[in-house]
Amino acid sequence: MCSGYTLATLHSEYLVGSLVSELEWRPAAEGEVTDMTEQLDITIVMKHPLRARIVPRLSRNCSERTSK
Ligand code: HEM
Repeated sequence: MCSGYTLATLHSEYLVGSLVSELEWRPAAEGEVTDMTEQLDITIVMKHPLRARIVPRLSRNCSERTSK
């Protein structure tokens, strides 16, 4: 049993949360729908690699900067 399981889970959740909080994930092309089909590898992975246009959530970051 991994004694770092809780720490690793917390850290992973924080990483994903930060990626969603700080960045906007848009489809790679207009109208494209992300294929979330899974595939078993060593872990479960996306069958088709994620394609996305990733942009900073500027309005949120700007308002934070001006409030300091
Ligand atoms: C994604 C992150 C991690 C994965 C996938 C992972 C995976 C594993 C696996 C598969 C084992 C062997 C379990 C077994 O044979 O029963 C293990 C053991 C262990 N892990 Fe992790 N681990 C992770 C993070 C961590 C972290 C962050 C720490 C410490 C801060 C840690 C400390 C340990 C220790 C000390 C053991 C040996 C436990 C024992 O033999 O009693 N691990 N881990």
